[in-house]
Amino acid sequence: MNGDAKKEIYREALRELDAVLAGIDDPITAMSTCAAVLHQRLPYASWTGFYRVAAPRLLRAGPYQGPLGCLEISFDRGVCGAAARAGTAQIVPDVNAFPGHIACDAAARSEIVIPIRDPQGMLVAVLDVDSHQLAAFDEFDRDGLERVAERLRSCLGGKAVFYKEPPPAA
Ligand code: SME
Repeated sequence: MNGDAKKEIYREALRELDAVLAGIDDPITAMSTCAAVLHQRLPYASWTGFYRVAAPRLLRAGPYQGPLGCLEISFDRGVCGAAARAGTAQIVPDVNAFPGHIACDAAARSEIVIPIRDPQGMLVAVLDVDSHQLAAFDEFDRDGLERVAERLRSCLGGKAVFYKEPPPAA
């Protein structure tokens, strides 16, 4: 897909996210909304979603769209770990040539991973998009996904809320 077509996809995705994320400060709501919007709009995406920093140097699956992903990834492993360690976007045109790539989906051929930071600048997650096409991702995806990460940042100041509603009286 050419750069102009990608720019248009990300422009529309950001327009949609701006509209639906206004006032949202629940990270699960915000991340699942981003995963859905991106996965629907990127025709070359096979898996789109987040790994959260759940403990020191440990990523754990967050909201995603696509087939079953790994549940936990250490910072020492995979493209997601590399992005978390370096704190910078990683574009991998051929995952089979990437040492330590974690093959959750045997059909995955390329991927991009973007660090996600909260309003204080702390790393709280990575955004991973995988494709069954070789070299599906380029600088247009990095730019578009970094804009999404920037949009998401203001939604990540709050806590994921599970209000504990008591069961109905018997
Ligand atoms: N391929 C990733 C692992 C996560 S998934 O494929 C969903 C990696 O190497 O970090």
